[in-house]
Amino acid sequence: MVEYKRTLITTALPYANGPIHIGHLAGVYVPADIYARYLRLKNEDVLLIGGSDEHGVPITLKAKNEGITPQDVVDKFHEIIKKSFSDFGISFDVYSRTSSKVHHETASEFFKKLYDEGKFIEKTSEQYYDEENKQFLADRYIIGTCPKCGFEKAYGDQCESCGTSLSPTELINPTSMISGNQPVLKETKHWYLPLDEYEPWLREWILEGHKEWKPNVYGQCKSWIDSGLQPRALTRDLDWGVPVPVEGAEGKVLYVWFDAPIGYISATKELTPEWETYWKDPETRMLHFIGKDNIVFHCIIFPSMLKAEGSFNLPENVPANEFLNLENDKISTSRNWAVWLHEYLQEFPGKEDVLKYVLTANAPETKDNDFTWKDFQARNNNELVAVLGNFVNRALVLTQKYYDGQVPERGELTAYDSDTLAAISTIKADVEKSLDSFRFREALKNAMDLARLGNKYLADEEPWKLFKTNPERVKTILNVCLQITANLTVVLDPFLPFSMEKLRQFLNIEKHIWSKLGSTDLLIAGHKVNQPELLFEKIEDAVIEAQLQKLMDTKKANEAATTKSKPAKESIEFDDFGKIDIRVGTVLEAEKVPKTKKLLKLKIDTGFDKRTVVSGVAEYYEPADLIGRQVSILVNLEPKKLKGIESQGMILCAENADGTLSIVSPDQKVRNGSEVK
Ligand code: 2FM
Ligand code: ZN
Repeated sequence: MVEYKRTLITTALPYANGPIHIGHLAGVYVPADIYARYLRLKNEDVLLIGGSDEHGVPITLKAKNEGITPQDVVDKFHEIIKKSFSDFGISFDVYSRTSSKVHHETASEFFKKLYDEGKFIEKTSEQYYDEENKQFLADRYIIGTCPKCGFEKAYGDQCESCGTSLSPTELINPTSMISGNQPVLKETKHWYLPLDEYEPWLREWILEGHKEWKPNVYGQCKSWIDSGLQPRALTRDLDWGVPVPVEGAEGKVLYVWFDAPIGYISATKELTPEWETYWKDPETRMLHFIGKDNIVFHCIIFPSMLKAEGSFNLPENVPANEFLNLENDKISTSRNWAVWLHEYLQEFPGKEDVLKYVLTANAPETKDNDFTWKDFQARNNNELVAVLGNFVNRALVLTQKYYDGQVPERGELTAYDSDTLAAISTIKADVEKSLDSFRFREALKNAMDLARLGNKYLADEEPWKLFKTNPERVKTILNVCLQITANLTVVLDPFLPFSMEKLRQFLNIEKHIWSKLGSTDLLIAGHKVNQPELLFEKIEDAVIEAQLQKLMDTKKANEAATTKSKPAKESIEFDDFGKIDIRVGTVLEAEKVPKTKKLLKLKIDTGFDKRTVVSGVAEYYEPADLIGRQVSILVNLEPKKLKGIESQGMILCAENADGTLSIVSPDQKVRNGSEVK
């Protein structure tokens, strides 16, 4: 590895058009945070850079849909995102935003320098235009069928289904996102970076020089370069963004993918006057943490911009992740198919580390992966509680019980004791190896091996059985267990920062640096530890079921939103309607019809009689919940026998998109027998 003095870690700037979800976390922020914490523990000079991406069509579209300004949209979501990251413990050194003054200036200067040095091609071309709204349709303002995979809702800049980067004119059946109309072609002038000219250099720099990049990243770069790079327009006809700082560019802004990565530079500027050391000193190593849909921008376009500018470092590595799905379905902000970070933090207070743990243990590092609530529960209960929590709890409780909280002396060591203590250094080396090659799942598994080792040692040695017969031996066993516990606070600190802080409080110790990991004397004999509490709590089935129910509700709402209502039936005469006699009645009795799944037998007070009605709502209502409830009932329907019971009428229900039924009731109590008309 190249010698370096410091590391600049950037994390993809999330669009400020929605909150953060677990897909963002697993792909980018959790691994970046682990890595930054690891380097800090090693006393290395490191910066973790983040911020909101506040330009681009996703923001203006959201504003348009909600009838508010783009600034309103970004102000709202920037705050939500920033707070949720901070509460979750993503340890940014700075979390900035691209609507800031310093960013506008930085991006503007960057563009101007390339412009002045003749690095752009100025080109007039025909682009799609919405005649109704008098607007050019950049990027996501236009959708159509992807020419590569046939996906019907590909955007003008990228197909989210196959990941191909597109230009609007490549789309089949292009449609304006604003009006839904077919757009027309109209001439407009833009500035392009001739990526084709950078191709030989990119080939050399990435394909020859960075064979160590993750296969998914290297593979995408290779396929891009091999299929031939085209000049890329870096300006857009839009009214939201950084204005293009040259003459004759009125009404044009910088392309969001030109200004967003420069956001990393502006954020560093905002943080420290030393920013140039982090961006220009060759002894600084730059790492971009991103999701796979950002690979081309961070490996091809931004590096070409940096190369054109000439004074900045290039990324040393781009450890991009694949995507995380949720319960077997693609995470989607627009379909509300996500676990939202701000909601998780409210619903699972004090369990930030549990989510970090699950997202790392199940990280989509080499392929897309699935988050399921059952797996979340299992990893919490079987790993965090049963392995890690159980081990440290037993070590600390026994220390309190036998030695009033004082770390006992370690006597002569058995071979098993020595091997166990020596294993800590082996684990340290394993974790380092995994983290140094950005294999976070493996690193976490290796780190957890120390807790597994402790658990096994304790179970094998059974100090509780020896305490009466061989108290000296028990001292050694518990000393070993406590050294393991203290080492856990170091090795797991990057992954579980809140819990390891708690564990340090139980142990009554300060934070140790990484180089101390492996030491068998982190706790000296006689040191007093505190009364422990539980490090992790079991998560019950009901909690998981509530989350699954929430997702089911989302699914239903989405289905309802996308299901077209049936058209109205043929008109009828008013007299025909007059023949229908619907009344309000109260359910007096309700019971399941034996040997049926769907039927309930109801006794109803209609105001003028009490009658029996058989209704097909048994799958949606508990009989007891219906008693006393008012319903609408068609009272002059010909009686009909169902399963041997005569049904004297019909309860009115609304049918949901998925076929489930919902009883139609008056919105306030009315007299039984009231006519519904
Ligand atoms: O894909 C996204 O969500 C973009 N907002 C990422 C930008 S990364 C960087 F360039 F700022
Ligand atoms: Zn496609």
